[in-house]
This record gives sequence, C-alpha cells and structure tokens, in this order.
Amino acid sequence: MSAHTDTMLYLDGVSVAFDGFKAINNLAIIVQPAEMLAIIGPNGAGKTTMMDIITGKTRPDTGQVLFDGRTDLTRLDEAAIANLGIGRKFQKPTVFESHTVWDNLEMALKKPRGIFSTLFYAASDNDVARITEILETVRLISRKDELAANLSHGQKQWLEIGMLLAQDPKLLLVDEPVAGMTDSETEETAKLLRKISQTRSVVVVEHDMSFVRELGSRVVCLAEGSVLAEGSLDQVSANPVVIERYLGR
Ligand SMILES: Nc1ncnc2c1ncn2[C@@H]1O[C@H](COP(=O)(O)OP(=O)(O)OP(=O)(O)O)[C@@H](O)[C@H]1O
Ligand SMILES: [Mg+2]
Repeated sequence: MSAHTDTMLYLDGVSVAFDGFKAINNLAIIVQPAEMLAIIGPNGAGKTTMMDIITGKTRPDTGQVLFDGRTDLTRLDEAAIANLGIGRKFQKPTVFESHTVWDNLEMALKKPRGIFSTLFYAASDNDVARITEILETVRLISRKDELAANLSHGQKQWLEIGMLLAQDPKLLLVDEPVAGMTDSETEETAKLLRKISQTRSVVVVEHDMSFVRELGSRVVCLAEGSVLAEGSLDQVSANPVVIERYLGR
C-alpha cells in the first residue's frame, strides 16, 4: 500500500503550462485529514491555478492529483469533484441577497433535488440543528433572520463559507478570504477557519501575513509554480529565499 492512502489531498509532479508558460511546475503538496494548510507566495506564483487544478477547472499536463488517498481528480469534471466533497470559496461572495441568512443556508443543504423534495420540502429537525450549528460556526446566529443584502462584506463571506459547510465538504479551498475585511472580521475569520479545520481539511491562500499567523497552521510558500519553502510561518518567513522573492519585496 502506498504512503499517501491516508492523505486528504496529494499532489505530486503536477505541471501545467499556458501558451508555453509553466504556471505550475512539478508541484508537490500534501494535506492531511483535518489539517489546515496556508499557502502564501508572490502574485502569479500559481496559487489560484493550483486550486483550479484541484477543482477540475484546469487540467494538469502531468502529475498526480489524489483526493482522500484514492480518487484521481484529473479524470473528473468540476461537478463530480464538487460532489466528492471539495468545496471552493471564491473571492467574491455569491449569496442570495434577497433571501435571509437562514434561507441561504437552508437552500445550500445537501438534499435530493427531485420534484417531490422541492414541492414538499420542509426543514426537518435535523436540518434545523445543522443550520443552527453552522450559524454558530460562522458567527451569524444573531443575524439569521436578516436579509443577506444587509450583511457587511465580511459577514457575506462567512455566510458563503456557511453555505459551503452545508454541503458537508471534506476539503475546503479558500482563496484570499480576508481581502476587504476589517481587522476584527479578519481575526474572527481565522478563528472560524481554525474551528472548521478541527473536522475538515482546509487550504487557505492569503497575502495577509498577520492573518496567516492567526491561522497557526503549516505554511507552504509557492513561487513560479513550485514549493519554495514549507514549515511553520516562523520557519518559512525566516527563509532567505522567501524573503528575497516574496516577503521583502
Ligand atoms: N487560464 C489561464 N490561461 C493563461 N494563463 C493563466 C491562466 N490561469 C493562470 N494563468 C497564469 O498563470 C500564472 C499563475 O497565476 P495564478 O492566478 O495562479 O497566480 P496566484 O498565485 O493566484 O497570484 P495572485 O496572488 O495574484 O492571486 C500567472 O502568470 C497567470 O497569468
Ligand atoms: Mg490568486
């Protein structure tokens, strides 16, 4: 049995070129179950492209991309990958503004989408308990009856994270979640991602180093499509090459 069967995400030898330019170059990344990994690195390092490869939006030219130790993601399309339990948070929130916070979460719950369930659906006790738990995790319990349109930018981001949680993902990918957030929203976001990562794997891409510090997770610095350094934030940020190519710019 190979060594990566107990990993949640396993990338090895992954490369992709766009018009001859290698955006991802022999990339190797591992994320364990219930582990949070922060990814840092300069603009154009390939951080978003790496997420595109994991979610099936971009096909790698070479390399292995395995989910949950066994599923080859390079053979699946985006919908199939989402159904496996990989949730992705894009930068711009896409909540339903004219619905309440509660209704947004209720709509996001994983349930059969047949005509019968659509016509006769009523939230079960189990759904109510799950929505309540998600509202607590994403710090929106006191805003549950508010229209999503009336939330702050940060709260909309949290609601969208909540909508991803309603899909019960095993792996959550979050690209620059705190861009545009206030300092206190940024701090709360670190706390809620830490909580989520107690039971799910989470990959967070961010440029905000104080936020990355609050995540308290293992850090990988990407540059030119490869891993430049990895370890704790202290280890990575003391690395002279990381300082030269990223932090010291
Ligand atoms: N679909 C595409 N077609 C052509 N080039 C692309 C495509 N996607 C990404 N690239 C290029 O690949 C490189 C890596 O881009 P990527 O968006 O992954 O960087 P990033 O690390 O997310 O940067 P940032 O921190 O600015 O978000 C860039 O040079 C980008 O222009
Ligand atoms: Mg990016």
